[in-house]
Amino acid sequence: MEQNRSSFTGKIGFVLAAAGSAVGLGNIWRFPYLAAQYGGGIFLLTYIVLAVTFGFALMVAEIAIGRKTGLSAISAFGELSSKYSFIGYLGAIVPMIILPYYCVIGGWVTKYMTVFMSGFGKSAASDGAFAGFISQVNEPILWFSIYLGLTALIVLLGVEKGIEKVSKIMMPILIILSIFIAVFVAFMPGAIEGIKYYILPDFKNFSFTTVLAAMGQLFYSMSLAMGIMITYGSYMKKSVSLESSVKQIEFFDTGIAFLAGLMIIPSVFVFSGGDKAALGKGPGLMFETLPKVFANMYGGEIIGLLFFVLVFFAALTSSISLMETVVSIFQDKFKLSRVKSCIVVLLISVALGVPSSLGNGALAWFKIIGMDILSFFDFISNSVIMPIVAFLTCIFVGYVIKPKTLVDEVEITGKFKGKKLFNVMIKYIAPIFIVCILIFSLLEAFGVIKV
Ligand code: TRP
Repeated sequence: MEQNRSSFTGKIGFVLAAAGSAVGLGNIWRFPYLAAQYGGGIFLLTYIVLAVTFGFALMVAEIAIGRKTGLSAISAFGELSSKYSFIGYLGAIVPMIILPYYCVIGGWVTKYMTVFMSGFGKSAASDGAFAGFISQVNEPILWFSIYLGLTALIVLLGVEKGIEKVSKIMMPILIILSIFIAVFVAFMPGAIEGIKYYILPDFKNFSFTTVLAAMGQLFYSMSLAMGIMITYGSYMKKSVSLESSVKQIEFFDTGIAFLAGLMIIPSVFVFSGGDKAALGKGPGLMFETLPKVFANMYGGEIIGLLFFVLVFFAALTSSISLMETVVSIFQDKFKLSRVKSCIVVLLISVALGVPSSLGNGALAWFKIIGMDILSFFDFISNSVIMPIVAFLTCIFVGYVIKPKTLVDEVEITGKFKGKKLFNVMIKYIAPIFIVCILIFSLLEAFGVIKV
């Protein structure tokens, strides 16, 4: 049992800390390319509906589990019901899978930041610049190593607090800058078509994979179904309203993702007329389109630099939090010292991160169920393990400890307005929904059914 667990001071402190961990590459890099790929408006709509129903219920459940037990995920499930600690273990695998490839993307951001810093931003705007970069062997691995090393150094020296302070100042600047860029893009020729594509749902574009992608993105972006929010909850004071904190975190996280989409998706239409191939670019989308926007902007070198610096810090707070999570699990479970634990996590990250990077070039021939290595890690964590953890969490809360246990925890500070929604979601809708989506999308992926 951990005794003196330090608490976040007040509600703002809690919301900012949780949002700081949640807001990262998931919002700025991942959300826009998924929205572009999976039908624009229909993806956005699906995402928002999922966020306010299912995401809300799951985040309340996780934070309440954490605050009730005062423990992090692995011990928290066991504390509430001894047979169920395996859910915590399963969730703990996720950050270990995400961290290595997160650092590959973090490396790309670092590279773009330095390109703009050295005044070569325009060169990043040329066609093929990005593809040329990621398909190399040495350069992306070098940037990956720098980014991973920096993350590890911060965790090792224990200076996360300093970085988090910097990032708290940077987050509002990132929001303002994103609005500015989105408005600038909106006035470029052809952008209106892109805004329409992004905002107006077209049910023709609906498919089960759209829903699966939106659900995976919801977990990824809000750091759900991997024990993180349980840990955050364990630090939350009993006097802070859990329900309204969850609403604020969700609002923050979704707002930033929405803005990122509003910058990037219309740009795709401006520069490539919104053809299918350009929209389906995947992980490279942000890196290919935004430099073109900056190249067309007065003072674009500076704006581009500022943008990549801000994204760099948003990413860094997330990768620090990811690594911190994995390191403390290794410390607790294998009784390793902090330094040893850091080294083990670093080695695993290199072992998984280097192939993820090479999958875009030298190892591009190597496909797992049709995916390159990075996409496979992304798929297995977001579209397979996280839905399973979310499903098990719902069953655990709905039928083992019963929703009332957590409702009582929420009601410490007053009435739980979303109580009905929470109960129905956790017990019936979410678990049934997850199972259906998993089955249908797998059948669709393997071509058994066509939607
Ligand atoms: N939510 C983060 C983002 O949007 C990524 C992430 C997933 C994360 N799991 C996490 C961050 C765990 C910190 C801890 O980029």
